Amino acid sequence: MPGRKLLTRIVSEIRRDIASARARDPSTRGVGPAQLLATWPGVQALLAHRVAHALEEAGVPALPRAIAFAARTLTGIEIHPAASIGDGLFIDHGSGVVIGETASIGNDVTLYQGVTLGGTGFSTGKRHPTVEDNVTIGSGAKLLGPITVGHGAKIGANSVVVSDVPENATVVGVPGHPVRVDGKRVEGPDADWIHLPDPVADAMRALSSRVAELERELAELTGRPASADGESATVLPLRPVQGRNPAGG
Ligand SMILES: CC(C)(COP(=O)(O)OP(=O)(O)OC[C@H]1O[C@@H](n2cnc3c(N)ncnc32)[C@H](O)[C@@H]1OP(=O)(O)O)[C@@H](O)C(=O)NCCC(=O)NCCS
Repeated sequence: MPGRKLLTRIVSEIRRDIASARARDPSTRGVGPAQLLATWPGVQALLAHRVAHALEEAGVPALPRAIAFAARTLTGIEIHPAASIGDGLFIDHGSGVVIGETASIGNDVTLYQGVTLGGTGFSTGKRHPTVEDNVTIGSGAKLLGPITVGHGAKIGANSVVVSDVPENATVVGVPGHPVRVDGKRVEGPDADWIHLPDPVADAMRALSSRVAELERELAELTGRPASADGESATVLPLRPVQGRNPAGG
């Protein structure tokens, strides 16, 4: 019977949501399921989203948005009804969490308050992040654009992530960059993602100092003063002036 199947599914989803809260929030110790449902905003927002998402998928107009709006008013968590969310999501504290329309979240993901899974501008189509299974995203982190956050990754509190994140990486900072992969410190020439070497500026600097040296020698030979007092020209490092910053995860 379809009604019975639906009820069984809803009960098992609620059980899983409560189990996720218990597993990842130590303050649920000694709290019964009814109290958890009544007072944990992350659990409430998720329940409301499941209803809103099912109605959205069924093509029901207006109601999914109304449910999402009511849930946001109650919990401070805004989840677009079209966002795809797997099993076992836990949103701790909740306030200020925003999950955009084309965001996709895998299983057993943890989000803290103030997390944004957002777009970078006014583009249409897939424009929000895809978060794979077992990812943890710290409070205040902003993940922007159609990036993929790999399985098991951790995003540090207050990071701004605009590039893909490798599996099992820890990404921190603005822009977000990996500091650990598989628990190991990121080493080697690519470890500093912000201060990358600039070979073009290095070559220009070397050429400029050779020209200055030649001018000095010529001045000595001819007795005429060297131009620019024999000083090398200043070479500024080249920096991209537009487009996405290549630094980051
Ligand atoms: C990133 C985080 C998940 C830790 O992950 P981890 O893989 O265990 O990483 P580590 O603690 O070993 O830290 C790795 C490096 O990143 C730095 N780091 C950790 N979190 C950071 C953050 N949010 N911002 C900037 N740097 C951070 C550490 O100082 C360390 O630096 P080092 O390489 O110079 O030693 C954790 O620090 C974090 O931000 N968790 C969010 C928790 C949260 O939001 N709680 C809210 C509860 S209300």
